[in-house]
Amino acid sequence: MTKLLIEGGNRLRGKVNISGFKNAALAIIPATILTGSLCVVENLPVIQDVLVYRDILSRLGAKVSIGDNGVMTVDTGTIEKCEIPNGLTRKLRASYYLLGAGLGRFKDVTISYPGGCDIGVRPIDQHIKGLEALGGKFEIKEDLIRVSADRLIGNKIYLDVVSVGATINIMMAAVYAEGKTVIENAAKEPHVVDTANFLNAMGANIRGAGTDVIRITGVETMHGGSYSVIPDQVEAGTYMIAAAVTKGDLIINNIIPKHLEPVTAKLKEMGMKIEEYGDSLRVHYEKELEPVNIKTLPYPGFPTDLQQPMTVLLSTVPGESIVIESIFENRFKYIEELLKMDAKIKVEGRTASIKGNPKLKAADVKATDLRAGAALVVACLAAEGVSTVNDVYHIDRGYEFIENKFMNLGAKIRRVEDDNPIKTV
Ligand code: UD1
Repeated sequence: MTKLLIEGGNRLRGKVNISGFKNAALAIIPATILTGSLCVVENLPVIQDVLVYRDILSRLGAKVSIGDNGVMTVDTGTIEKCEIPNGLTRKLRASYYLLGAGLGRFKDVTISYPGGCDIGVRPIDQHIKGLEALGGKFEIKEDLIRVSADRLIGNKIYLDVVSVGATINIMMAAVYAEGKTVIENAAKEPHVVDTANFLNAMGANIRGAGTDVIRITGVETMHGGSYSVIPDQVEAGTYMIAAAVTKGDLIINNIIPKHLEPVTAKLKEMGMKIEEYGDSLRVHYEKELEPVNIKTLPYPGFPTDLQQPMTVLLSTVPGESIVIESIFENRFKYIEELLKMDAKIKVEGRTASIKGNPKLKAADVKATDLRAGAALVVACLAAEGVSTVNDVYHIDRGYEFIENKFMNLGAKIRRVEDDNPIKTV
């Protein structure tokens, strides 16, 4: 098992380039299936989840390659059917997009149940409700999900919960549905917009992405083309929070500042200085930070994917803060790890009450899921002494070159394998 050894206590300084957005990439890669043509997708993060999706497309019969530069060339014209029952789809959550993309193009899909981080029950009832409204018929047997249709016909769908995955899945299936589809109470996250922009660039007719009503008019054909994925606001937010935790001074490059507003607003409220430029920002520490309260919400509210690093930051800020996780019911598991570092946090249900302790101590901790793993890295950067983060494979699913990027900013991190232990950093 790979681990990271981290010597904390160094102020981060310098510039970091943000990679393409994982969650947009993991929707746009399956969306290429709808085109049945040659697509070139740029600015992909070269991370485990993206490589798994490349393997899924390849297993389906597509001609696909991804270079170290994050450029994917894929021809999905060679796929004949959308059937992948061998468990590969259990490696990530976003494999649920095969349901919408496969139903849209082939009217028949079979996949194993999607996997992903263990952060709650994560039902897919809204995906099912939406695809059924378009004409899909589901058969769910043990681990296998099949959805098929004779025809797909546009419909009006009201989502009972704001779901990013269901919104994108329905949008994909509706691209070829006859007539008009309207999704009400749709998710407004930047990757919903990015996926709609990709589909429109390839010939779809989607209006209103980024608002809570999305209208899709079915088209008969789509075509290939080139597209560049938006920057990763979760990765960018993680580095901004790392700057605050280490009392540092960072320039965050290749971002869309608007997507970071919920984080920027909270960090400013705490006392961090943030200056925004066109596609970058500077975040720097000037004075002792103040505690704040956070509640995670759908976009443009505070993102659940940054709840963990933010909780780490608040656990180092003198005073009392409250964090409410309103999206996923089981997203505080990593706090047990944080307690080993002397954080003072009490969890009751979906509420974490924090008493800031500016002197976290080094510990041996393990990543319990992707975002929790990144948060623990941030905690270790602040703690005095040498910490170990185990189960790094969770982090590798979603963060490109994490230790290299932090080392370029002055952090002391080393990646080691278990059979090659290194005692000091
Ligand atoms: C996506 C992101 C994840 C992010 C989350 C919320 C990807 C691959 N993952 O996950 O990083 O944390 O959005 O921004 O893009 N729900 C239902 N029924 C459904 C679908 C969802 O009840 O059919 C609930 C979920 O349990 C959760 C809430 O709706 O409480 C939001 O989930 P959703 O937006 O769908 O998250 P994911 O697509 O799983």
